[in-house]
Amino acid sequence: MLEVRGLNKSFSGFRAVSDVDLTVETGQIAAVIGPNGAGKSTLFNLITGHLRPDTGSVRLDGRDITGAAPHRIVRMGVGRSFQRTNIFAKLTVFENLQAAFLVHRGRGRDFWSRAAALYRDDTERLLASIGLVDQRDTVAGTLSYGNQKQLELGLALASDPALLLLDEPTAGMSATETHDTIRLIERIAGERSLTLLFTEHDMDVVFQIAQKIAVLHQGRVIADGAPEEVRADPEVRRVYLGEH
Ligand SMILES: Nc1ncnc2c1ncn2[C@@H]1O[C@H](COP(=O)(O)OP(=O)(O)OP(=O)(O)O)[C@@H](O)[C@H]1O
Ligand SMILES: [Mg+2]
Repeated sequence: MLEVRGLNKSFSGFRAVSDVDLTVETGQIAAVIGPNGAGKSTLFNLITGHLRPDTGSVRLDGRDITGAAPHRIVRMGVGRSFQRTNIFAKLTVFENLQAAFLVHRGRGRDFWSRAAALYRDDTERLLASIGLVDQRDTVAGTLSYGNQKQLELGLALASDPALLLLDEPTAGMSATETHDTIRLIERIAGERSLTLLFTEHDMDVVFQIAQKIAVLHQGRVIADGAPEEVRADPEVRRVYLGEH
């Protein structure tokens, strides 16, 4: 589904992503791990069009999407969440999700109807699916951190993606929140037959759900394969797992 070849990105001479190859099969749950500054978020930004690579290509279902605008890539079925939350802090949970549907689907023939009526049923369904029904009228900025990340997952799902990229979905969460979020992501991925690519620092989370792991170190992929292979890889142990 996703094929990254020879991807490079430098920031004023500093190679943040260096000759990266990465493939994700349809339906797979894949993780990109690596120490702080390894280039994980930069790689995601290159895939989703938020950054343009210096060289290399990104293919989605065989189609070249290298350098395409983010909204076009979303329309082609790639959703994402951000490392820092991206919600509208002053809107309620319900309004956040409804706004996401409006952004992705537009008003169409409903142009003259009141915004409040639009995508009400879709929003209700999504609200239930991400487990935030009880918080529907809460102003998003006042949600717990864990619930904010849950809401952000909902925003990404409003575009009905086939491939979902999650940048540290459990960052900053308590152990309980992390556990619940992982269960939620697994359930939603299963229900929607999503292909998932995520970054994560919590190794328990990574080894619990990833079917394939790529390890980035200083912008390069130093290992890529099944969790058991990656866990046993001497270089991975030396540069990464050994640090924890
Ligand atoms: N827009 C930018 N301008 C300059 N340097 C950048 C920019 N974005 C990222 N970098 C640098 O590129 C390197 C990779 O950063 P990136 O955010 O991709 O790492 P990461 O693996 O996501 O780290 P973390 O685990 O802390 O989120 C870092 O050294 C970072 O400082
Ligand atoms: Mg990052």
